[in-house]
Order: sequence, then structure tokens, then C-alpha cells
Amino acid sequence: MAQVLRIHGGARLEGTVAVGGGKNAAVAIIPAALLADSPSVIENLPDIEDVHVLIQMLRWLGAEVEFIGGVMTIDPRGVDKSNPPYELASKMRASYYLSPVLLGVFGHSAVPMPGGCDIGARPIDQTIKGMTTLGAKVDTLGGVINASADRLYGADIFLDMPSVGATVNSMLTAVSAEGYTQIHNAAKEPHIVDLANFLSAMGASVRGAGTDVIRIRGGRHLHGTNYAIIPDQIETGTLMIAAAATGGDVTITGAIPSHMESLSAKLLEMGVSVYCEDDLIRVRSGGSFRSVNVKTQGYPGFPTDLQQPLSTLLTVARGTSIVTETIFESRFRFMDELRRMGASIRVIETTAIITGVDQLVGARVNATDLRAGAAMVVAGLMASGVTDIGGVDYILRGYEKIDQKLNSLGAQIELIDV
Ligand code: EPZ
Repeated sequence: MAQVLRIHGGARLEGTVAVGGGKNAAVAIIPAALLADSPSVIENLPDIEDVHVLIQMLRWLGAEVEFIGGVMTIDPRGVDKSNPPYELASKMRASYYLSPVLLGVFGHSAVPMPGGCDIGARPIDQTIKGMTTLGAKVDTLGGVINASADRLYGADIFLDMPSVGATVNSMLTAVSAEGYTQIHNAAKEPHIVDLANFLSAMGASVRGAGTDVIRIRGGRHLHGTNYAIIPDQIETGTLMIAAAATGGDVTITGAIPSHMESLSAKLLEMGVSVYCEDDLIRVRSGGSFRSVNVKTQGYPGFPTDLQQPLSTLLTVARGTSIVTETIFESRFRFMDELRRMGASIRVIETTAIITGVDQLVGARVNATDLRAGAAMVVAGLMASGVTDIGGVDYILRGYEKIDQKLNSLGAQIELIDV
């Protein structure tokens, strides 16, 4: 029996909602806990599918893992394998972060290659470059990242582009490499800084995360630690966009306003009111928007993961907006679904030209990836009539209780069997 998210459009979102822990921080920090020789306690973790798959993988490897109420206890002392199974690793992209971790623990690892997905090929050549620069032998025969090293040693890594995954994997390799590593052209996303802070709490020497050069003095003894991860930047942004899209008045608590500056600036340009305090963001809108141009960039630029929800909002902005996607080569597939709801969009390679229409009209649509799913939810909220969204697993996999959170603000979303 298939399921769809059914959304009765048109309700204004009003009230207060708390944002959950960061998915992309969680999937980097949980594997890192295996580098310690004692247990860690990690708090503010989102209760999402990717976290549950990681728990299964860690237990398969021999770790003891408890996860209750967003708090995870990981005891790595029983880990005695370095080759997580394809059946588990293939369920989520970030499982390849285990490759440098298990290499550091055992001197070898065999972790299945991450899959591509609907947003592009997603090669991992820069990850391999980082690991081999620090002395590892790496091949990808048989769809597995086979890594081995008698000894890892610090060196200068020059990434060809500020890849998040390659930065994470270079950091996770460097903490096990004797000596001094500098990662040049590093990604600066909030979850990179969060990983650096977690590694430092474990006793690693990590400097410069959040800048272009991350400096790590590796080979140090790492112990377990207590840590609370950052809130989810993309969930925060999606809630901000949903609030604006419905002409609502929503306060998002537990957020970090400084992580949201590129989106806040765009929403302000569109005529949306964004008010920030220490850990909350209030978004108010009258329901009409100026068109704007958006170009996705690595942090602190406009995040590619928010391109799809914002493009959805732009379908009803007054005038024409130009959206340029510079990070992934095919992150516009969801626009076919928006056209089914009446959007007027022309796509030319990695540029979308969006001409505002009065209102979208509910239809049966599909989520083609996690963030496209969020975009479809935003579309359903602001459309007239009923929208049925297929591919709900994508949405529920990456956004903890997103339907419940939106319904608590006045949305009318139900999960139904079709
Ligand atoms: C991370 O993916 C995120 N995933 C993505 O979020 C996010 O969209 C992306 O960073 C950009 O912010 C996680 O953190 C688990 P990249 P990642 O390496 O690491 C090219 C979500 O929905 N590239 O920064 O794969 C690559 O093809 C996901 O939560 C290479 O060419 O992103 C892409 O075009 C979607 N070679 C660009 O760089 C490499 O070795 C940026 O990729 C690595 C990347």
C-alpha cells in the first residue's frame, strides 16, 4: 500500500515551532564517536531515518548504542569490524564517513560507495584525494571504498572545490594522522564547525573550521565526550519559507539566526518580515512577494538545499525570478512537479526562469529527493485545493515529524494510504 502526504492548501501558518537537531551534523558526528576509546553522549539528535540507519551500522560493527529522546550513547569499545554491509550503507549517503573513521581505528576499511541520487552524479574524488594525501591507499573496486594505511601522516590537502563531504572525510582522516594537516579550500558549513567542535571535545586539535583552511594536529589520543549538536539549518529555512508562503506569522525556536543570514536576506528582499533574537527567528508575511534572483553557493552563500523550497515560493512572486544552481547539476527536476500545479518556469541548463502566477493549484505530485519533497510540501501549503505528494519516505526520512510540526501551526496535512 503506497502512502501520500495529503495537504489541504490555503491555511495561514501561525504560532511557535521548535526546530530539531541538524541532520547533516548528526551524520558526521555519530561516526566520529567511533574514534574515541570510551563512550560519548550526543544530544539534540533528530529522530530521522538516517540516524536509525547509522545506529544499525554502528551496532553491526560492534558498538553499543542507545538512542532515547534525541540523546544517543555510543560505546565504541566493542567495534571489531571495518566493513559495514551494503544493505545498510546503501540506505543513506553519509555512510561513507565511516571509511576514514574505521581506517583510523583499524588501519584498513571497506565501506560501500555512496549512491548518486536525483540531484547529480555526486562523485567522491576529493574525498579520495584527501585520504591518499595523508598516506592511505584507496581504490573503489567492486563498489567499495577499500582504504588501508600502515601509518597516516599529516600533510597539506588542496580541495578542488569546497566539498562538504571531502572536508568531513579529510578531517576524520587527519585526526588519526601523525603530525600537522592543513585542509585548504575547505567547506565552511555550520555542520563542518559542529564536527570540529565535537572532535575538539574528544581531545583533538582542530583549528580554523568555518574558514577556508582547517588546521589539525593529529595522532592524539581521543576520548568519549558529551556533546549537543546544532539545530538543523535546512529545516529552519524550510519552516521560514513555509511561514512566508502561507502569509503567516511563525516563530521558530531553538534556531541559530546567524546560520540563516543568506535566506533571511532573500526573504527581506522579497518583502517578508524576518525578526531574530538569540535563538529564535520570527517570520511574518502578507502573502505577496517581490521576485528576486538567487544563486546557490557553499556556505555562507545561499544553500543549495534551500533552493528547491525557495524556488517554490518564487512561483507566486510578482514578476520574474532567476534561480541559478551552481552546486548540483540536476537539482531542478522537481520543477516538472511545480508545473503540474500551474507554475510558469523555464529551465535552461542550471538556470531556472520563474514567472510569478497568482496561485498554484493542488495536484497529485511526487517528491524526487529529500529537499524536493520539502518544496512540494511548501507548494501544497500555498496552493488552492488538495495536493497529494508521493515519495513521502524522502520527506519523512529527513525532516523529523514535519507534518506534525506544520499541523501544530494550522496546516492541514495527513498521511494517507492510497
Ligand atoms: C553535502 O553533500 C550534503 N549532504 C548535501 O545535503 C548538500 O546539498 C551538499 O553537502 C552541499 O551543501 C550531507 O551533508 C550528508 P559536496 P555532499 O561534496 O558532501 C561536487 C541533503 O539533502 N563534488 O559539497 O555530497 C559534487 O558533485 C543533502 O541533506 C565533486 O565533484 O556535497 C557537487 O556538485 C543533499 N567531487 C559539489 O561538488 C567530490 O569529491 C558539492 O558537493 C565531492 C563533491
